Amino acid sequence: MILVTGGLGYIGSHCVKQLKKQGEEVIILDNLEFGHLGAGSGAKTYIGDIRDTDITRKIFKENDIEAVLHFAAYTSVGESVQNPQRYYKQNVAKTIALMEVMNEFDCKMMIFSSTAATFGEPKFVPIDESHPQNPKNPYGASKLMVERIMKDYESAYGLKSIALRYFNASGADPEGDIGEDHTPETHLIPIIIQQALGQRDKITVFGDDYDTPDGTCIRDYIHVNDLAKAHLLALKALRNGHATDFYNMGNQTGFSVLEIIKAVEEIAGVKINYEIGPRRAGDPAKLIATSDKIEKELGYKADFPKVTDTIATAWNWHKKHPHGYEDKY
Ligand code: UFG
Repeated sequence: MILVTGGLGYIGSHCVKQLKKQGEEVIILDNLEFGHLGAGSGAKTYIGDIRDTDITRKIFKENDIEAVLHFAAYTSVGESVQNPQRYYKQNVAKTIALMEVMNEFDCKMMIFSSTAATFGEPKFVPIDESHPQNPKNPYGASKLMVERIMKDYESAYGLKSIALRYFNASGADPEGDIGEDHTPETHLIPIIIQQALGQRDKITVFGDDYDTPDGTCIRDYIHVNDLAKAHLLALKALRNGHATDFYNMGNQTGFSVLEIIKAVEEIAGVKINYEIGPRRAGDPAKLIATSDKIEKELGYKADFPKVTDTIATAWNWHKKHPHGYEDKY
């Protein structure tokens, strides 16, 4: 039995769907702060918080949990700068509470959602696992702290974990029943799509004076189902005795904000109304990852290497569900 924390959220729900497709038995724990009841693909679900050890103990007592896929976290860089307490509490303290119960019940495997933000300002691209980690914000720092905890818990308790450091998670399951639905939405692709659907008057491009060919920021967009695929491979590796490890998840190709706008225009067949605004604090000019390590060691291969295919799946989800999941109404 696999426990998925945050399994009703964006990336967690895509993993739950893929796990179930592979015949895994899945249990979700989600506090519904960002999760949606419609996102669970029918998996048995406990509503509660990872901090609440009464509920996590109950889950471990009632089910034979072999591994935990831990997605439940806050992910907004800007907010983490304004309110670091919220991030260290959610992303570090609550993860410790969860791992404490894992230790109590002798659960020895965890897959952890880490982030490009653990690297900070890139010294070189593509960013591989040898790149120094020097986070620029509390969000990245909170995730890096857990990476450190993972190493210490392996040495002391034999709890083996694999961290996957996501670059820009995007897209949606091609079947169109689950997708990205954040309130408020801050991510580029869904924001552009909302403009294409007439839900926003315009979008703002955060700065066009970066040292990039068109002056706008470059990012590496990885499909959410490719992230789910990487989780399945990481689970398999842990089952085969793989030690605690860390993998970067990107496509080794970068796209500027203006290129993403153009790609959405082509896919949606509408002109996007955008304006150039000031830079957003904390945005690095260029983030590109190489996934060579996970390809070589765990046999990962992206199903969605082309950003246009990724955007097409996002467009499909948003067109079918223009207001996201229905549990808000
Ligand atoms: N952008 C705009 N206008 C918008 C929204 C975004 O121009 O309205 C730009 C951003 O400045 C950035 C790019 O689009 O250059 C992508 O922005 P997102 O907010 O979609 O994603 P980020 O790259 O900021 O953040 C992602 C993850 C974070 C993670 C971070 C690592 O969402 O969780 O990468 O740097 F921490």
